[in-house]
Amino acid sequence: MILVTGVNGQLGFDVVRELKKRNIECLGIDIKDLDITDSDATYEYILSLRPECVVHCAAYTAVDRAEDEEELCFKVNVNGTENIAKACKETDTKMIYISTDYVFSGKGDEPFEVDGNIEPHSVYGKTKYEGELKVQEILDKYFIVRISWVFGVNGSNFIKTMLRLGKEKESLNVVCDQIGSPTYTADLAPLLCDMAASEKYGVYNATNEGFCSWAEFAEEIMKQARLTCKVNHIPTSEYEAKAIRPFNSRMSKRKLNQNGFNLLPGWKNAVNRYLIEINIL
Ligand SMILES: NC(=O)c1ccc[n+]([C@@H]2O[C@H](COP(=O)([O-])OP(=O)(O)OC[C@H]3O[C@@H](n4cnc5c(N)ncnc54)[C@H](OP(=O)(O)O)[C@@H]3O)[C@@H](O)[C@H]2O)c1
Repeated sequence: MILVTGVNGQLGFDVVRELKKRNIECLGIDIKDLDITDSDATYEYILSLRPECVVHCAAYTAVDRAEDEEELCFKVNVNGTENIAKACKETDTKMIYISTDYVFSGKGDEPFEVDGNIEPHSVYGKTKYEGELKVQEILDKYFIVRISWVFGVNGSNFIKTMLRLGKEKESLNVVCDQIGSPTYTADLAPLLCDMAASEKYGVYNATNEGFCSWAEFAEEIMKQARLTCKVNHIPTSEYEAKAIRPFNSRMSKRKLNQNGFNLLPGWKNAVNRYLIEINIL
């Protein structure tokens, strides 16, 4: 049995959907079923289920709000992850911890390898990295999978925002100097299921293939959705946000290749299938 946290979020929803498609016994839970910051409850919950694997998708993900809610963000992303890892240790359960491009320094223009320069600049990034450390300290049978710019059918994301604004406005300002890769949860979920069935433990980067800026991402969405809204390219310095974002979020997928995992399809292709999934095309 595979336990999936964060089932009401974007990724957890698609992981459960993929496991069901594969006829793999699974249980998707969210905060109303188990608050992962409650250490005793988490320990008891996992000990009673004794899953083969926990795919840990639950997290505090409000990047800007985290700058004002550091304590809560830490509690969920560090203590919550530690609570799950400790229980997994006890039951000899594999754990897949989902992490982020925000753990890297964001400097330069080369893709970060999995052992690239770690230097998170935001509260969210720091807590996600400390979560990684907890997993590595406590467990041997773990996967840490760093993803970025996530979109899925279940939840709000950049594509849904662009579609809404694209219908309302004639033009939009979008930052053009942060470069990364979108990740479609419906493409990532099969990879996570393949990992759960394997013993190729370790740290991975996983996103759809190809790189773009947020502005290029927005332009592709407008183009595919046949919206005429013009995308103005602006520098990060002209866009106000509380948390510091990485300029360079490019991540190398070499490790996936080396260990025989399938790479995800190109990001433009993923946008196309997503627009079909949400009935825009
Ligand atoms: N979204 C991105 O662009 C992005 C980028 C890189 C990495 N990631 C990582 O990818 C993973 C999945 O992201 P996502 O976008 O699917 O996240 P999401 O949509 O925000 O879902 C996260 C889920 O975790 C739940 N949760 C929060 N606190 C909890 C607690 N104390 N106990 C149990 N559940 C709790 C949330 O419930 P409530 O809604 O009720 O709070 C929500 O359902 C996360 O680890 C995230 O850090 C995301």
